[in-house]
Amino acid sequence: MTVVVSLGGSFLFEHPEKISELNRLIKKVNEQFIVVCGGGMVAREYINFASGLDLDSEFLHKVGIELTRVNAMIIAKKLGGGFYNKDPRRIELMSKVTVTGGYKPGWTTDTCAAYAAVASKSDILFNLSKEKNVYDKDPSEHRNAKPIKSMLFSDLYRLTKGSRKPGMNFIFDPLAGKICEKNEITVVVTDDPLDISNYLNKKEVDGTIIKGLNW
Ligand code: UTP
Repeated sequence: MTVVVSLGGSFLFEHPEKISELNRLIKKVNEQFIVVCGGGMVAREYINFASGLDLDSEFLHKVGIELTRVNAMIIAKKLGGGFYNKDPRRIELMSKVTVTGGYKPGWTTDTCAAYAAVASKSDILFNLSKEKNVYDKDPSEHRNAKPIKSMLFSDLYRLTKGSRKPGMNFIFDPLAGKICEKNEITVVVTDDPLDISNYLNKKEVDGTIIKGLNW
C-alpha cells in the first residue's frame, strides 16, 4: 500500500526534528510513501512581496508553487527519495519515497496530495500540521478552542470556509477534502509522525480522523 503525507509548510519550518522522526518511521515500515511539501511562511513572504508589486494572482500562485518545490527538493534529499515535479494525478512512484510539491495555480499542496492518493490507489492521507487536531474554532485566535477527534468531511467544509487566494491557509483544504471524500480516502490531521505508524498498526491516534458518512 502507498501512504500519502501532506507536509504542511508550517510543520516543515516549525518542527525540523520531526522530519528526522518521519525519516526513521518511513525506513521502518513496509509501505511506500508519497510526501507532498507545502510552502509555509517562506511561500507567503514571497507571495506578499510579489503582491506588493501588483503582480496578478495566477503569477502569485506560481510563485507559491516554486517555493513548495524548493521545499520538496530539500525534503527529498533528507528522506533519500525521488523528487517529482509533474502532475500529481499521474504520479509514478520513483522509489520507497517520492517527494513532490505544488502543480497547478489555484490549488494547494493538500489538493496535490489528494490527487496523488487517488493516482496511487491509496486509502489514507496524513496531513502533518503544526496543530495536533482540527478544532471547533481557530486555536490561534480562541484559547477555548476544543479539539475534534473524529469528524465527517461535511464538518470540515463547515469549518474551512474562506477565500481561495494565493497563500491561502486551511487546516486541510476543503477542495482536497472533496477529492478524498469522493474516493473514500481517510484523512488524519496530526502534528505527530508517530500517528502514521499508530494508524497503520490499527492503534489509536492522537490526531483527528476525517471520514465520509458511510465508511
Ligand atoms: P500551500 O498552501 O499548499 O502551502 O502552497 P502551505 O500553506 O504551506 O500548506 P499548508 O496549508 O501548511 O498545508 C502555498 C501556495 O502556493 C500556491 C497557492 O497560492 C498556495 O496558497 N499553490 C500551491 C498553487 O497555486 N498550486 C499548488 O498546486 C500548490
